Order: sequence, then C-alpha cells, then structure tokens
Amino acid sequence: MIKKPWAGRFKKGTHKVAEKFSASIDFDQRLYKEDIQGSIAHVTMLAEKGIILKKESDKIIKGLKQIKKEIESGKFPFREEFEDIHLNIEKRLIEKIGDVGGKIHTARSRNDQIALDMRLYLRGKINEIITLIKTISERLVELSDENIDAMIPLYTHIQRGQPVLLSHQLMALYEMLKRDRARYVDCLQRVNVMPLGAGAGAGTTFPIDRKLVAKLLGFPEVTKNSIDTVSDRDFIIEFISASSTLMMHLSRISEEFVLWSTKEFDFVDMGDEFTTGSSIMPQKRNPDMAELIRGKTGRVYGNLVTILTIMKGLPFSYNRDMQEDKEPMFDTVDTVKSCLEVLSEMLQVIVFKHENMKRALDEGFITATDVADYLSRKGMPFRQSHEVTGKIVGYAEEKGRELLNLHISEYQMFSNLFDEDLYDFITLNGSIESRKSYGGTAKKNVVKMIKLAKKEITDW
Ligand code: ARG
Repeated sequence: MIKKPWAGRFKKGTHKVAEKFSASIDFDQRLYKEDIQGSIAHVTMLAEKGIILKKESDKIIKGLKQIKKEIESGKFPFREEFEDIHLNIEKRLIEKIGDVGGKIHTARSRNDQIALDMRLYLRGKINEIITLIKTISERLVELSDENIDAMIPLYTHIQRGQPVLLSHQLMALYEMLKRDRARYVDCLQRVNVMPLGAGAGAGTTFPIDRKLVAKLLGFPEVTKNSIDTVSDRDFIIEFISASSTLMMHLSRISEEFVLWSTKEFDFVDMGDEFTTGSSIMPQKRNPDMAELIRGKTGRVYGNLVTILTIMKGLPFSYNRDMQEDKEPMFDTVDTVKSCLEVLSEMLQVIVFKHENMKRALDEGFITATDVADYLSRKGMPFRQSHEVTGKIVGYAEEKGRELLNLHISEYQMFSNLFDEDLYDFITLNGSIESRKSYGGTAKKNVVKMIKLAKKEITDW
C-alpha cells in the first residue's frame, strides 16, 4: 500500500471507496503550472531566509521543472492514491530527488497552497477573459463605424417602437461589455492577493518572508489574516458572479441575433460559418452558435449557485467541502472563454441587411412618438398629445395609410397646432436626428460615443 503523508498517526489505510470519492486529481491537475510556480517561489524564499539550504532549494526547483516537463509531455503518473495535484507533485518530487523533496512543504499547508494555486490560476484566466472582451468591444465599435447611417427599429416588447441608428444599437452592446470588463477588473483586485504563509490557518513558526513570495509571484499585496486566508473563497464567487452577468448579456446579444436572423426579421446574415443546416428541412439555416451561447448561460448560473451553496454556513476555517469549488470555477472559465471566442469570430462575418431594416421602419407608424412630441413642443401637455396622436394613428390605420402620407389638413382635423413643419420631424431621418439628448440616437451623439469608446479602449 502507498504511504499517505499523514500515515504516522494512522493504523489502517484509506478505504478504496473513500480514496476514489475524495480524490480531486482528475480535475485539479489543471492547476499543475500554478502549483509548480508557487512551490518554486516558496522554496526560493525558504532558501533566502535560511530555512532550507540554497543547494536544497536548487535541487527542488530542478526537480519541479522536470516534473512540469513530464506533465506537459503526458509522461507524469497521476495517481488517485495521492488525492490532489499538490501531493501528486510532492510525491513525484521525492521519487525523483529523494527525501530532500519533502522539504518543499516546510512552512506550508495544502490549505494555503490551494488558495495560492487558485488565485494564480484565476488571475491568468481573468486577464484572458478581459482581453477577449476588449477584442469584441473593438469589433463592436468598428461595426458601429461601418454601419453608422443604417437605421433599425428600436423594439420594446418586441414591437416596433421608434427608429434608431443601428450603430446606436451596437454601441449599446459595447456599454454592456464595458461594465462586464469593469466587474472583472474589480474582482481581480481581490483575486490578486498572496495567501501563502497562512499555513493550515494559524500562520507558521518559521521566519518566512511573505512579501518576498508575493514579489516573486507578482502579487501587489499579501493577505492579512491567516484564518480568513484559508476560509475565503469570495474571489471565486465574485468571478462566477461577474461571469453570470456577462453570460446574461451574451445570452441577450445572442437572442437578438437569433431573432434578427429569422425570415420574419431578416436583418442579419450570420454566415455559413456560424449556422448549421437541418437534417430534414433543406431550406433551413439555424443560428446554433448563438443559441448555444444563450443555453450555456444556464451552466454558469448553476455554477454560481453551487459555489454559494458550498460556502453557506461553513464553519471557519478550511473544510474539505471547499474542494468542490474547483469544478464550477473551471467550468465557468471554459464556458465564458469559449462563448466569447465564438461571439468574437461571429462578429467578424456577420452582415447587417440595411434594406430589410429600413423596410421594417416604413410601416407601423414608427414615428408616432415624434408626432406627440411635436404637439407637446407646441404647448400641449404630453398626456393629451399622446391621446391625440393615438387617434391619428387609428385614423391612418383605418385608411390604410402611413403617418408620413397623411395630408396636413387631415392632421389639423385632430389639432390646430399642426403645421407643415411637422413633416421635418416625422421622417425617419428627422425622427432620429431630433433625438439629440445626451446618449440619444442622433448621429452626432453616436459619432461622439464611438470616438469616446475608441479612446476608452486604448486605456484597457
Ligand atoms: N485538494 C484540497 C482542496 O482542493 C487541497 C486542500 C486540502 N487540505 C486538506 N487539509 N485536506 O481543497
């Protein structure tokens, strides 16, 4: 039987079933790079402080580097009996360089070690996610530029509401992603704190230098309370929470594209590359990628509930329950990254069908709000203008006409405030151009926001 690190106190070995049940090596091997990186910084510090000899740390570091190569070339023997990535690497190190390998765990516990590994891992992944968000944001701004004059109905309740610029609609997506990015950047501040040195939870008797370890690993600060350090998984909760909001946004963007690609809307062509055919209906082109992004949102919400539930009511400090934090974290990283990657590529090939968008604006009394606003600018209280305009819409509908081709004398039947200049405001262009309020759809505003966004992104 293989000897456990805790064998000293035990008379019997772990039951096979318990061993299998508690092992995390199947999934936490993904942390091998961070585990080795952390151990190298740790032993470098131990040698620096004279806690182990320099030649011992050299030997350990050499062994760890070989182990990294073994893992990367698929030659490393992952063993369930050694539970997790920490013990697997430590045991292998001892096999390779002898008992001195056991010094790697001086002044350290797996409780602070796992906290370090996860913080290192998540820091890297959050940065990758932030980069993907940047790429997509740049593309959205570029698409807004390219489609600056195209018009599209603004929908509320999926009913045609008011004319807007497509670029304005695309810049709305930019604003959403900008907030997502800010949430990740903010979360990164709490992730980027060095936990090693908390030991099992009480600190350590050795004269370690935590700030040196932080410096070696590029952490701007170290944690301040050893009990909190090994108890805390807020940084994972925050990450999955920021990811849930991002996924909610991606699901809405996807839904928009799904709707827009139906024959009923026919506003976009998502390209052969990102649609699939039906195995039975030859005419079909399904927006599967967008649908999958929408669908995968559910997994990330599930992961958030998982981690919150694991942590709820846990006594201080480390408890083995916390080993269950890894799979939701990994799954969230994988899901978010793959969705962002697909969306990013989709935005490269998407084509907006300006003509069809325009057609959707030509009917449906889309500038009715502009008629009401016109009356109110001439002094009528808006509630009343709304009612009068409602009657005009009813009249036009009955006659099978649109607002733009009712004669001024017909408008005047409803109110004597109407004048010829009404028509300047109820064309599509007139309607859009008169929405000059800050953040509105007038072209001048949108151009300004595009310029501002380009500047914002250069600071990202
Ligand atoms: N594999 C463990 C985890 O993921 C590492 C920490 C284990 N600590 C312990 N005392 N059993 O949480």
